[in-house]
Amino acid sequence: MPALVDIYDPDLYVDGPIHEIFAELRRTQPVYWQDMPGEPGYWAVLKHADLSHVARHPLLFSAETQGVVLEDPEPAQLANSRNMLLMMDPPRHTAYRKPLADSFKARVIASMEGRIREITRTILGDARQKGDVDFVHDVAGLLPSQVVGELVGIPEEDWPQIRRWAEQSTSQQDPEIATDSYVRTDTGMNVMAMYAYAFAQQRRTEEPRDDLASLILAGNFGDGPMSDMEFASFFVQLVVAGNDTTRNLLSSGLLALLTHPDQLAEVRADRSLIPGTVEEVLRWVNPLHYFRRTTTEDTVLNGVEIAKGDKVAMWYTSANRDEDVFADSQAFDIHRSPNPHLSFGIAQHFCLGVHLARLEGRVFFEELLSMFPAIEQTGPARRIRSNLNNGLKELPVRLA
Ligand code: HEM
Repeated sequence: MPALVDIYDPDLYVDGPIHEIFAELRRTQPVYWQDMPGEPGYWAVLKHADLSHVARHPLLFSAETQGVVLEDPEPAQLANSRNMLLMMDPPRHTAYRKPLADSFKARVIASMEGRIREITRTILGDARQKGDVDFVHDVAGLLPSQVVGELVGIPEEDWPQIRRWAEQSTSQQDPEIATDSYVRTDTGMNVMAMYAYAFAQQRRTEEPRDDLASLILAGNFGDGPMSDMEFASFFVQLVVAGNDTTRNLLSSGLLALLTHPDQLAEVRADRSLIPGTVEEVLRWVNPLHYFRRTTTEDTVLNGVEIAKGDKVAMWYTSANRDEDVFADSQAFDIHRSPNPHLSFGIAQHFCLGVHLARLEGRVFFEELLSMFPAIEQTGPARRIRSNLNNGLKELPVRLA
């Protein structure tokens, strides 16, 4: 069947997610073959049920074989990335995830609420002084970088640098963001991994602290503690996972509310609607477009034959609008319930930071709406050029 449109092309996403194209493909070719420049193409999995099937079979649809982004990695880079939780298959994945799981449990994360509120108030207080801000970088990006920075135990003076690296790493297709400073060395390590490597060496000389760095450095991951190299990759994934995704949630969330003023007014009048609003924001403007797998055997998905070694992309942006699951799926509706969106993935690799992301989202919008009775968009929002990172790079607003 002829290709309808090149859904790989990052330029296609600059004006907004391609929801109409996905809706058409869900109807006609829900497991859609897409060519790629200079390397093998991939199967885009566009239906909610098919995506869930892929995620639920991690040995058949492997994260470890070639990683989770569409572009095949260089061998050295692949070797390092296999130390990231996101890019491990069971049973190794299970052994690495277990020691961390307790730190991310709902109860443990809930105990961070006071501190998250304090950080949020400081960020919003600074923004109030300015009045006119780029909401993406001056406000939304600051909260996750400080929260993750404290959780992991990164020195405060390094947070801005870490934030820039995280942004560059997820937005490599946007020439305005990915600059020369985010280089890969011939070991396959990028500058952030080199930072993390040095950080691990330093921390091993110090007394353990009550943070994730100490927990990870002391942890037993199946066959003993991590090496500094392993720690470096692990650190990069954790920090990157917690930064841009949450920034997208907060900034795209505000834009969604500003473009639906009736629903914004409703939330302002009744703050108990905020958790549901956060869920709908997650569904409607899912911070990540997709993650990839590679098949380890020939298989069939929704009637389509997929060969061993093929790339398979779980397209969250499409599955979250699947008409078979969500009534009036293109509409933004803060009252939607149930809301089984897939923005945090599902099954084996289900987002470890889910409770933290939801808590940051709720506290942030509670404080934002309390502090600013009037929020006005003062210029056009600009989107990241990316088929992976579904987010804004600029949102000019006046906070009053
Ligand atoms: C709105 C915010 C967030 C979104 C949309 C998001 C999304 C995702 C998705 C889709 C996955 C699954 C990937 C897959 O199936 O391959 C994932 C995994 C992960 N996320 Fe998140 N995430 C968010 C926030 C966070 C935060 C705040 C942290 C931690 C500080 C975090 C840490 C992780 C980790 C460690 C994994 C890997 C889990 C595993 O492989 O077992 N995420 N996230």
